[in-house]
Amino acid sequence: MAVLFTPITIKNITLKNRVMMPPMCQYMAESDGKITDWHRIHYGTRAIGQVGLIIVEATAVEARGRITEKDLGIWNDDQIDGLKEIVDFVHQYGSRIGIQLAHAGRKAEISDKSTVIAPSPIAFDEGWTVPNEITEDTIKEVVDAFVKAAKRAHQAGFDLIEIHGAHGYLIHEFLSPLSNQRNDAYGINREGRLRFLKEMISGIKRVWPSDKSIFLRVSASDYKHDGIDIKEMIEMLKIVKSWGVDVIDVSSGGLVPAKIQLGPGYQVKFAEQIKKEVGIPTVAVGLITEPEMAEEILFNERADLVALGRELLRNPYWPLHAASKLNAVVSWPVPYSRAKK
Ligand SMILES: Cc1cc2nc3c(=O)[nH]c(=O)nc-3n(C[C@H](O)[C@H](O)[C@H](O)COP(=O)(O)O)c2cc1C
Repeated sequence: MAVLFTPITIKNITLKNRVMMPPMCQYMAESDGKITDWHRIHYGTRAIGQVGLIIVEATAVEARGRITEKDLGIWNDDQIDGLKEIVDFVHQYGSRIGIQLAHAGRKAEISDKSTVIAPSPIAFDEGWTVPNEITEDTIKEVVDAFVKAAKRAHQAGFDLIEIHGAHGYLIHEFLSPLSNQRNDAYGINREGRLRFLKEMISGIKRVWPSDKSIFLRVSASDYKHDGIDIKEMIEMLKIVKSWGVDVIDVSSGGLVPAKIQLGPGYQVKFAEQIKKEVGIPTVAVGLITEPEMAEEILFNERADLVALGRELLRNPYWPLHAASKLNAVVSWPVPYSRAKK
C-alpha cells in the first residue's frame, strides 16, 4: 500500500491519508471577515476529493492584522458560526480540518495604514507602509488576540490550529534579525526574537485542549545574507519543540524580496532536515504535484505529510487520481462511485 494512503495519527486525530491542502488565502470573505459561499464550496470540494487534512487559509486574529480587507477573520465571536459550517461539512466527508491563525504585521495592505505594526519600523520594500514599532503593551494585546482566536477555533470544532510563522508576516518579522532590530526583551538575540512566539504558544496552551495538536508554519530560509537560514531555523525549532508544538509545516521566503530558485519539491530538503535534526514531524510543501513524487517523500521518511497547494486548486480530486495511479484503495464519495475507474 502506498504510504500516501496510509493513515497517520497525530494526537487525538487520525488522518485517512497523508495529503494536506495547505492554507491558501482566497480573499473572498465579507468585509467583516465572515465566510461566503465561496468558502463553503472551496473547502467542501476538497473534502469530497478525499484530502486527508485541510488547513483553512490565513485567518486574521485582529482586523489590523489582515493582509487585505477580504481576508477571513477570527477576531470576534460572530465569526465562529460560519467557520463551524465549514468544519461540519468537511467532517461529514471524513477529512480533518485545521485553521491557520495569522497576523500580517508590516505586510498588511489595509486602508488604515496608521494601524500597521511590526517589531521595527522597517518597510517590507520600497513603496510599502513603514509600520509602527509595536510597543510592549500592544505585543500583549496581539498575543491575547491569538489566544482568543485559538479558543474560537476550538469552539468552531477545528481539529488543529496552525500558527502562521512564515512568509514575512508578524511572527516571522519577530523571528528574523532582518526585520527585528529591537533592543529590548523581544529582540537582540535568538531568545529575544523567539519571545513573542513563546508567549503566544504559552497563552494558547491555556485555552487549546492538550489532546489537540498545534502546527507551526515557518519559512526555513530568508534567502538573504544575515537573515534566517536553515541552520538558524533548526536551532530555533529545537527550542520551540520544547514548548509543545507538534508539527512543523515547512515553507520558505517572503520576509524580504529575494530571488528563489524554484523547482519540483524545492523546499522538501528543509522539511527533511528539520524532521531529522529537530526530531519533529514535518509537512513538505512547494511544487509537489505528482503522486510518485509525493510517495517518494513519504516512503523515504523525508516528511510526514505532503501538502499540495496550487495542484489542489487545479484539481480538487487529486487524491482520487493519485490513488488510482499508485494502486491504492481509497473510498470514493458514494454519489461519484460510478465514475471510479
Ligand atoms: C492562492 C494562494 C494563497 C496562499 N495563501 C497562503 C496562506 O494563506 N498561508 C500560507 O501560509 N501560505 C499561503 N500560500 C502558500 C501555499 O500554502 C503553499 O505553501 C505554496 O503555494 C507552495 O505550494 P504549491 O507549490 O503546492 O502551491 C498561498 C499560495 C497560493 C497559491
